[in-house]
Amino acid sequence: VMRPITDSFGRVHNYLRLSLTERCNLRCQYCMPATGVPNLAPSAECLTASEIAALAEHLVRQRGIRKLRLTGGEPLVRKDVEQVLDALAPLSAASSTNAAVGTGSGGSPVVALSMTTNAVLLERHLPTLQRCGMRSVNISLDTLRPERFTILTRRSGEIFLPRVLRAIRRAVQAGLDVKVNCVVMRGINDDELLDFCEYFASMETVLRPGRLQAVRFIEFMPFSGNGWESNRFVPYAEMLQRLRGRFEPESREQVQRSLDPHDTTKYWAYRGDGDSALRVGFITSMSNHFCAGCNRLRVTATGHLRTCLFGRTEYGLRHLIQRGDWQELDAVIDAAVARKAFAHGGARDPLRDLPRRTENDRPMTAIGG
Ligand code: GTP
Ligand code: 5AD
Ligand code: SF4
Repeated sequence: VMRPITDSFGRVHNYLRLSLTERCNLRCQYCMPATGVPNLAPSAECLTASEIAALAEHLVRQRGIRKLRLTGGEPLVRKDVEQVLDALAPLSAASSTNAAVGTGSGGSPVVALSMTTNAVLLERHLPTLQRCGMRSVNISLDTLRPERFTILTRRSGEIFLPRVLRAIRRAVQAGLDVKVNCVVMRGINDDELLDFCEYFASMETVLRPGRLQAVRFIEFMPFSGNGWESNRFVPYAEMLQRLRGRFEPESREQVQRSLDPHDTTKYWAYRGDGDSALRVGFITSMSNHFCAGCNRLRVTATGHLRTCLFGRTEYGLRHLIQRGDWQELDAVIDAAVARKAFAHGGARDPLRDLPRRTENDRPMTAIGG
């Protein structure tokens, strides 16, 4: 029998964000601490491909996980990422004969498989992603200007930005649902909102309509050592202000109604120059959090459970996965989720409480977003 993962507020957790590695091929300022790459967990302490698959299979079949997002670090830098994907394929909704998320052939439950990536290595892996039944990818991109890309990611924008843009086009052409994630920071990229909308609205129009699902602007969140300052933070209201006159006022309601209540994003319909149109979303973690609808759990590359992005308590699952002790693993998950705070890991004021350093205060790159 399937036992859903439910917290003390009645929230059912059916979305697992699983980090494949702490490593990354970029060094984004808002993610990697300025002090450089933090101490990375040795690969001997990370879950293997088969441990990942065993954990996922258990949580899908026994605990009602219905959405599985692979994160990092950068998930595609993992050397055996293709093995991981192949091992997860049997669980994927789209690779089974029954395409509907819920149950696959023979009535066994299946999962919607997705990934959040910087797309630097995406193009070469597209065939595998498709073969494994991945239908959507979220792509992180924070600037359209090469010289800014270099500053932001501490890697060459001349080399990497064209690659990322090409990978986005290729992914859309391959029929994947693509969302572009842009973290907005004052004085760094906050003058590019309209450029992003126009660039992707025209890409959407030229390529396969409907596949480029959205550009999403994300409020900058504070994490250990990521340079967050209140004057770098651009709230949702201000982003809307900057794009005023570009949205269809009624479409927002239509778009919103088609979404599930667990979505991180507030969507609007954007009208661009000419005939172009695009969905534009805002992820308002700070000014307008969406914790009431939270359905997310996280497992780090080392197999540690985190019940909240901002929560600091971790629960080691790796030894239980290795032993195949699913009963004990379930007990740990249930106890952890029972202690989950309603919002922001229990921080009273996320703007003030979060940047403080504590023991388990991992940088974003080790949590996976
Ligand atoms: P979809 O499933 O496509 O809607 O993606 P998503 O928004 O769940 O995940 P994605 O990896 O694309 O992350 C986009 C942004 O949302 C990032 O800045 C994440 O850190 C943030 N985010 C994702 N999940 C949570 C969450 O549970 N809480 C908060 N506060 N932010 C989150
Ligand atoms: N604030 C908001 N979003 C962030 N991400 C990484 N660090 C931050 C931050 N400090 C985003 C990445 C990626 C997603 C997983 O999280 O851009 O799209
Ligand atoms: Fe869920 Fe925590 Fe994110 Fe709020 S901050 S949506 S409780 S994971």
